Amino acid sequence: MASDTRIGDVEVFDRVARLYDLKPATRRRKLEPALALADRDIGRVLDVGGGTGQGVRSLDLPDGVVVDAAAEMLARAREHDVEGARGDAARLPVADESVDAVLILDALHHMARPDAVIEEAARVLRPGGVLASLEFDPTTVRGRALAAAEHLFGFDSRFFTAADLAAKVRAAGLSASIPRGGFEYTVAGVKRS
Ligand SMILES: C[S@@+](CC[C@H](N)C(=O)[O-])C[C@H]1O[C@@H](n2cnc3c(N)ncnc32)[C@H](O)[C@@H]1O
Repeated sequence: MASDTRIGDVEVFDRVARLYDLKPATRRRKLEPALALADRDIGRVLDVGGGTGQGVRSLDLPDGVVVDAAAEMLARAREHDVEGARGDAARLPVADESVDAVLILDALHHMARPDAVIEEAARVLRPGGVLASLEFDPTTVRGRALAAAEHLFGFDSRFFTAADLAAKVRAAGLSASIPRGGFEYTVAGVKRS
């Protein structure tokens, strides 16, 4: 699959992949409040728009897989022994009900079809599984600054409030909540049996 800016911010990440891990890494404590809501043990984790695999690596689980559209980001993930598949988050190359948790971390605002991405996350979750999406609130001072900086950098980022993202998660059929609020918030969605 060729890099395609129509599906999201991908080409820029291909260009900066070698430097990406210089940014502060995703921390496990930011994900745990959402993952704790799962109604099943978490074994297989799918990190959507997972880039270099920071999310999977922070959880230190044996069965974590990244799906990302940027080949260079996936190459960096593989250097960290994280398995990866190239694809569009809005059309996941993953079977129905095959994972216990889906992570979408600092990525949904870069994707062109966020509603389809969340529907795909709901499709691949096993009953009792959980979606954890970490995003940034554009109504906060830091959120406005981040949005302006990303647009200057050339990204097409579109940010959501936590309430708006929770509504999208609910619309995809998951039980939505906001276990962590603020500038950098987490929305969870549990797939009820
Ligand atoms: C800011 S990075 C976040 C990477 C990782 N989740 C993290 O927290 O470090 C955003 C990632 O989303 C990916 N991306 C953007 N649009 C995408 C799409 N439609 N499908 C799959 N990946 C996409 C980019 O290639 C990039 O690796």
